[in-house]
Amino acid sequence: MRWPTFWRRSGRTMRRLDPAWASACAAIHKTAFARPWGVNEVEQLISQRECISDAALTGSGKALLGFVISRLAAPEAEILTIAVDPAHRGKGVGHDLLNHHMSRIAAAGIKEMFLEVDEGNGPALKLYRAYGFQEVGRRPGYYSKADGTRATALILRADVS
Ligand SMILES: CC(C)(COP(=O)(O)OP(=O)(O)OC[C@H]1O[C@@H](n2cnc3c(N)ncnc32)[C@H](O)[C@@H]1OP(=O)(O)O)[C@@H](O)C(=O)NCCC(=O)NCCS
Repeated sequence: MRWPTFWRRSGRTMRRLDPAWASACAAIHKTAFARPWGVNEVEQLISQRECISDAALTGSGKALLGFVISRLAAPEAEILTIAVDPAHRGKGVGHDLLNHHMSRIAAAGIKEMFLEVDEGNGPALKLYRAYGFQEVGRRPGYYSKADGTRATALILRADVS
């Protein structure tokens, strides 16, 4: 099957992430993680040949709603990050983004995906489980949180087909 490089639904456009969006990605990333990525860091990741990155844009394509970046090491890939603008969370952007991304990952010949997620991150766990991700390991105390406490990282795995 040939997967589209972009598609539009629900007034949103899913497409390959262009490095020009690095600054907007960093701004969204900062809202979500205790150790935010800098603009250069995001730009470098997007530009790496072994990374596949996708963007959720408004229908007009003028604003970034969210993004996802995975690193490939065939036949595996790892989702490095996925984040949605806080003003647009809970509206299906994460679903649209991951659906599009997993299609592109499959088209690249990847057979299994891995990721790490905070065990307390309910929305992310719901999203990942919808795409077949299941727990295969855990790292207690892996994340340091803004309030100084530590949190357990779950390692999730999914078949890609
Ligand atoms: C995780 C994240 C990407 C999900 O994106 P989103 O656009 O909000 O997700 P969606 O609207 O597509 O919803 C995905 C699922 O989460 C649920 N969800 C969304 N927001 C929720 C909330 N505040 N509380 C509980 N569940 C929530 C939805 O109901 C949906 O579940 P369903 O499949 O059972 O219907 C987004 O919340 C985010 O950017 N979080 C901060 C960054 C982050 O934690 N990334 C993951 C790191 S591993």
